Amino acid sequence: MSILRSQVVGCGSYLPARIVTNAELAARVDTSDEWIVQRTGIRQRHVAADDEPTSVVGLKAAQAAIADAGIDPSEIDLIIVATATPDHTFPATATQIQAALGITGGAAFDLQAVCSGFVFALATADKFLTTGGARAALVIGAETFSRILDWEDRATCVLFGDGAGAVVLKAAPGEGTLADRGILTTHIRSDGRHKDKLYVDGGAGSTKTVGFLRMEGKEVFRHAVTNLAETVRHTFEQTGLSGADIDWFVPHQANRRIIDATADKLGISHDHVVVTVDRHGNTSAASIPLALAEAHADGRIKRGQLVLIEAMGGGFTWGSALIRW
Ligand code: UT7
Repeated sequence: MSILRSQVVGCGSYLPARIVTNAELAARVDTSDEWIVQRTGIRQRHVAADDEPTSVVGLKAAQAAIADAGIDPSEIDLIIVATATPDHTFPATATQIQAALGITGGAAFDLQAVCSGFVFALATADKFLTTGGARAALVIGAETFSRILDWEDRATCVLFGDGAGAVVLKAAPGEGTLADRGILTTHIRSDGRHKDKLYVDGGAGSTKTVGFLRMEGKEVFRHAVTNLAETVRHTFEQTGLSGADIDWFVPHQANRRIIDATADKLGISHDHVVVTVDRHGNTSAASIPLALAEAHADGRIKRGQLVLIEAMGGGFTWGSALIRW
């Protein structure tokens, strides 16, 4: 049966130049390189300059992805930016990136699912592309979490970083089998009962401020390992695949211990896992496309390989997608 698939035709990323090491943080709050590395695997993170809002960080990733795709930006008729740190309450960061790319056709909007944002955005773009609603989509995960961190709170400020990653997707015919190139499955979930475990304590509609990130780390950790394994099990049940079939597992990069525990639960060998959390920290919606771009650029992820992505974040939200690259 001939169907439409959303194929990844380009991938790119951007990291701000400034690197903040664990040692630098240990000079500001009561923490240590040893604690951060042992509990999270994080050694450093990038922090955006004052003149680098999320739209600028996202634009640079978008430009890299479009250059990698080798297409003219005017071909893009859908832009989705997954972000929890938009430049403004409105307009959407996506429309600012659209304008900076010189694109005047199609639609551009932001999507808010915090750390799961890229998976949700990819699933959304896939629905447009495979139903004829768009022909080429730019999906960006872009964040400047440094702006919403309480730099006095050692339990959260050591965990996050800034950055952006992007993919260009194009609708292309497929046979409707797992051999097709493109997005093969997506699963997204939410459970709003857990709001208080990971949230920002401000907002335009409540406090009229931006607020700071608050997290009950241990609780989030517990739910993350369970929910991530559940969403990937759905993918395996739907496709008949197992962990051994996955060429590259590219999880959300929040904590090395969550990544390892999830890979172990799913039977995915650690040599098939892309890890960037050590150098990027948790960049929320940007973490997966940043990791995809790194492994695509260095030749680990090759055309035709099976790539599994998954994420869990505030809300709670969680989800996964299986892509034949
Ligand atoms: O991306 C969205 C999803 N987010 C996540 O997935 C994050 C999930 N959670 C985690 O990654 C981990 O829970 C953390 C890394 C946040 C914390 O690790 P933990 O092993 O769960 O530590 P904990 O929160 O139980 O804290 C252990 C101790 C506490 O001290 P006491 O109460 O045992 O005396 C904390 O006060 O470590 C203390 N602590 C720190 N010590 C040094 C907390 N933060 C720090 C710190 N430096 N930065």
